[in-house]
Amino acid sequence: MSYQHELNRIPAVFPISLPSKVTRSINYAARNLNSAFPSMGERHPDPKTFAFALDCAKEQMDLILSKNDWLGYILANVENESIDAVYIRGLPRFKGVDSSKLHRIVGLMIGRTIGNIFQYQQQNHGVLQPALSPEPDGPANSNSTPDDFLGHTDDAYFIKKYRCRNIALYGEINQCGAATGYAHSESIIQHMNDRHVHQLFKSDYLFKLPASFGDIPGIPEWSERRSILHESTNGDVHIEVPTYNTEVCAGADGLALEAFEQLKKAIDSTIQWFVVTGSTYLMFNNNRGVHAREAIPYGNRRVYRSYWTDNESLQNMRTICGTEGHVFDATRFLEETANYQAQNS
Ligand SMILES: [Fe+2]
Repeated sequence: MSYQHELNRIPAVFPISLPSKVTRSINYAARNLNSAFPSMGERHPDPKTFAFALDCAKEQMDLILSKNDWLGYILANVENESIDAVYIRGLPRFKGVDSSKLHRIVGLMIGRTIGNIFQYQQQNHGVLQPALSPEPDGPANSNSTPDDFLGHTDDAYFIKKYRCRNIALYGEINQCGAATGYAHSESIIQHMNDRHVHQLFKSDYLFKLPASFGDIPGIPEWSERRSILHESTNGDVHIEVPTYNTEVCAGADGLALEAFEQLKKAIDSTIQWFVVTGSTYLMFNNNRGVHAREAIPYGNRRVYRSYWTDNESLQNMRTICGTEGHVFDATRFLEETANYQAQNS
């Protein structure tokens, strides 16, 4: 395939500093939404009012974007996947009893402009925007580990339509300044030779079911044979790989392991780091790049994490699970993934 398409793209990570008038507008809108919909920013919003609350959040954000065309343009390009990541500085920084709710409401205001929020029941107790913090005994390569969280895409075990397109992190506190990294597929490819890149398009790899989903009866621990790189329908290169949970499948030649080792080096060489702390928001495309997080050796760190997908995928998830709303039983997606893999292996 030609990589020219990749070279013509807008730079993958777009940094934005909001002017204070935009910060004030967002702050004002979030407080109004919190008054109108008191459960909107809770860990489990009231499903009866949530859909309407989301519509109002979008309306409020559209009003703000109508006066700030450039911000709307950037978010529209995040939605259409021309921009892989956006790092926003200058968002409101809330304190006091309602701070968690207000952070979550701003998260919904921004995210709703690019897609639909969802969560798996099995993760973070089904909280739509969990507050992620380190725990002393947090498992390796998980959101709760205080150690380095190595490069990965989220939930690579699932076929694409059952995992998130975008991941958003809204910072509240980050005392040690631990950075979050994003390496986009364009840069990774440019740092590898063609032989290794072509190898990564081959279905010679297995991905392990994320530990956060636990042991689900009937679901194998390892996926069927998968490739790490894919060409999407519009010609973009997509990537899926948990670097700490990937194995070369039996029967693959030595080039498969060699290419995987080179991939990890290319990720290390190209990753860009951003400190997600109070007033900052990092949103990145989970299909277009690998993310990682530095160790948290001391102090508090709290970010609100959310998963976003497009309209069609949300409707598909609702149909598969036979439910409305935004929180889904991942067992159904895992069963569908197993069916898909059985039919295509
Ligand atoms: Fe992740």
